[in-house]
Amino acid sequence: MNEQIVILDFGSQYTQVIARRVRECNVYSTIIPFNTPATKVAAMKPRGIILSGGPSSVYAPDAPLPDQTIFELGVPVLGICFGVQLFAQFLGGKVEKGQKREYGKGTLVVKDASCELFSKLPKSLQVWNSHGDKLTKLPNGFKPVAVTENSEFAAIENRARKFFGLQFHPEVVHTPRGKEIIANFVHGVCRCGKSWTMRNYVDQAVEEIRAQVGGEHVVLGLSGGVDSSVAAALLHKAIGDQLTCIFVNNGVLRAREAEVVQNVFARSFNIKLQYEDATKLFLTKLKGVTDPERKRKIIGKTFIDVFQAATKRVGKANKAKFLAQGTLYPDVIESVPIAGNPAALIKSHHNVGGLPKGMKFQLVEPLKNLFKDEVRLLGEELGVPKDIVWRQPFPGPGLAVRILGEVTPARCEILRNADAIVVEEMKSSGLYYKIWQSFAVLLPVRSVGVMGDERTYEYTIAIRAVESQDGMTADWVKLPYDLLEKLASRIINEVKGVNRCVFDITSKPPGTIEWE
Ligand code: XMP
Repeated sequence: MNEQIVILDFGSQYTQVIARRVRECNVYSTIIPFNTPATKVAAMKPRGIILSGGPSSVYAPDAPLPDQTIFELGVPVLGICFGVQLFAQFLGGKVEKGQKREYGKGTLVVKDASCELFSKLPKSLQVWNSHGDKLTKLPNGFKPVAVTENSEFAAIENRARKFFGLQFHPEVVHTPRGKEIIANFVHGVCRCGKSWTMRNYVDQAVEEIRAQVGGEHVVLGLSGGVDSSVAAALLHKAIGDQLTCIFVNNGVLRAREAEVVQNVFARSFNIKLQYEDATKLFLTKLKGVTDPERKRKIIGKTFIDVFQAATKRVGKANKAKFLAQGTLYPDVIESVPIAGNPAALIKSHHNVGGLPKGMKFQLVEPLKNLFKDEVRLLGEELGVPKDIVWRQPFPGPGLAVRILGEVTPARCEILRNADAIVVEEMKSSGLYYKIWQSFAVLLPVRSVGVMGDERTYEYTIAIRAVESQDGMTADWVKLPYDLLEKLASRIINEVKGVNRCVFDITSKPPGTIEWE
């Protein structure tokens, strides 16, 4: 079992960020609900416990409270924001509503440089605060080690018990040296080594996959996206020819996508790949359909039908018993509703929740303990090419959500050509791998133009480029004018059927990233 840090989730929007920061220190971390019984926590043999922040007040009647005996486990504890207020209150300190909310940038001054959390850090640090409540009296055995303008107890410790508390958020990027504080906790205080690396994970995952699958056959739906591609490479390493990947061409893929996937996986990796060209079926079903939700439903259902039929043809002699999925850690983290934080309940379980009726497989989910950035590192470790590992997100319903109105073969062709130019130019400008997404959208609106001596009456292409952390919110990217100029001129000159190009300057909210 990996050495691990356990993070109790009190509903902070940053809980997953804490977990990622710990893992970036090469220490495995697990997020568990705030009310997990101490016996269960103890059974996980954590080297340290981190209490996340959260939206509640510790003195509120419905405050989320942990099993108090976790404080008796003899394991080092780091409380962040709500987390420190919580253990301070339990251990006899006092938390009150602050005079004013402390929010945003602050300067932390370290008063006791011998505190292990601040080892090798400067005396003065920029930190990020976000709290209304304030610690006003320390519990016995604790002393302040750092202060901010607003708080004399911005960092506290009980050195003998190895309990530490931070009023600010070390996990966010606005606390630039925060990662070192977390590293000091996990390596210095908790004495964790640096065993969590994707190199080590490959061996561990390979062993686990082999143990689960035995001699049986596994099928995987390969989309060419990051998750299914990395899952394919990992499974192939573990079970070789017991894996068959099924790649469905739904007719709304990007240019050369089917070719690239076949080249990379069938030829370079030598993975058994079953190519299902269902282009005609999908496009026939989409004929005449303009409503975006109906398009999505049709594509989703047709995909399941095609995929299901395809699985029946896999390895006739050794019919597949397992279905592999590229489920990621954020999809499986258990959470409990917390008062004042309805957002905690809204979680997309798009990969979770079982199989379509009639599919009698057992699931293999070799990425379910990994965050997206870890999946990318794992992909690199396994030799998956950079343009797959670092590619931008591409929606399951493909170009169909980027063609407004009816999806026709001719429109698919136009958008594919325009999209290829956007990808190519974004890559050569060096921006493609720096931003969240950049793509072309086809608007079914024709306008008049002039080319040579002739009037034209053609479609419009919109260019969308956004910056985002997770797709939930996004800002449009201020692409340089000369790049925009190049994009527009290449698209209009090279893509037949387009005579106008516009640039989308809508952020999310109120817009969405895809146009649909
Ligand atoms: P929206 O358009 O909702 O998109 O702002 C947010 C992010 O999700 C991607 N997206 C999808 N990804 N299947 C996917 O796998 C889908 O059906 C889907 N729809 C949107 C979108 O590209 C953006 O990154």
